[in-house]
Amino acid sequence: MSALANTYARFPVEFASGSGCVLVDSEGVEYLDFLSGVAVCNTGHCHPHVVSAIQEQAGRLMHVSNLYFNAPMVRLAERLCERSFGEAVFFCNSGAEANEAALKLVRKAKPRGDIVVFHGAFHGRTYGALSATPQESKQAPFAPLVPGFRPIAPDADAVRAAVDEQTAAVLMEPVLGESGVHPLPDEVLRAAREACDEVGAALVFDEVQTGMGRTGTLWAHEPSGVVPDAMTLAKGLGGGFPIGALVIGPRLADVFAPGDHGSTFAGGPLACAAANAALDVLDDEALLSRVRDLGERLAEGVRELPRVYQVRARGLMVAIDVEADAPDVARRALLERRLVINATGPRTLRFLPPLVVDEAQIDDALGRLRTLLA
Ligand SMILES: Cc1ncc(COP(=O)(O)O)c(C=O)c1O
Repeated sequence: MSALANTYARFPVEFASGSGCVLVDSEGVEYLDFLSGVAVCNTGHCHPHVVSAIQEQAGRLMHVSNLYFNAPMVRLAERLCERSFGEAVFFCNSGAEANEAALKLVRKAKPRGDIVVFHGAFHGRTYGALSATPQESKQAPFAPLVPGFRPIAPDADAVRAAVDEQTAAVLMEPVLGESGVHPLPDEVLRAAREACDEVGAALVFDEVQTGMGRTGTLWAHEPSGVVPDAMTLAKGLGGGFPIGALVIGPRLADVFAPGDHGSTFAGGPLACAAANAALDVLDDEALLSRVRDLGERLAEGVRELPRVYQVRARGLMVAIDVEADAPDVARRALLERRLVINATGPRTLRFLPPLVVDEAQIDDALGRLRTLLA
């Protein structure tokens, strides 16, 4: 029992500290973390470069509001634009909030237009983001939702058929994360780009989970060659510190005018100092190429485990379907094998280790899981 609202079925574990891929609970027991606080701690827990950036900034200036500039915010916006198609960045505090900003942006660009979204997508829990998340169990209790969303199957033909003159945008994850790591073929991204171009609609990639190196490139859409009009970021962006961002490309960069949107804490110097430090660590080709190699090692390893009948992976974003009760396996992995993973469905387990994981830790995680699935 606790005074917390009843919104999560928490496990009976209290984490007290962490370093790299290791978490330590309040009794001093060590766990191997293959979840990263759900794709947040890409730099590993308490990365020294991120910790010292936060400590230094906390002693200098924590908050000033968006009525003024602050140096970490300006620098972060410039760096995100340099490393992407971006021309302007709106900062916020979470993934849902980044998607809310994206929805307002595309609606303002095409007034009253529809937003095409994918079945199986997850874009967040606030009303706009939830309305863009066509999952009955998540939406139904909170009806009526925001109108104007058109859910379709995540395939190229469905996108071509759905996008028309009424469409303001297609909003999509390059790899569907919360529904169990479903990488979309490049063809779907290309079809969405072409369909949007034909009618002057915006293509928005939700890279909240896939961004910041998770899939082996800084942004998951890069290898496809498809360039969106905007992308949303959060999770790994702050190296563990909460921050979100909407990166806006040239076509939409002038859509927002002063007064259109805002957020009190957004772009605060502390969050932006943390994100600049996380970018220092993650925007590194040597690290990203290791993410690709280690992702392959993990994907190959899980393929050999007993009772695994499907593996889906992109970099260090890996899911398996198992002939077992996945939530029970995740619970036993935590409580009996001290391995932190999660179940995204009744048969699906997901692995999102910190991107600083090494070969021995991957083999260790596989060993812990093998005994549970045998
Ligand atoms: C792809 C994607 N978009 C948006 C969100 C929502 O992010 P937040 O929980 O920070 O609001 C998530 C969270 O899991 C996500 O995976």
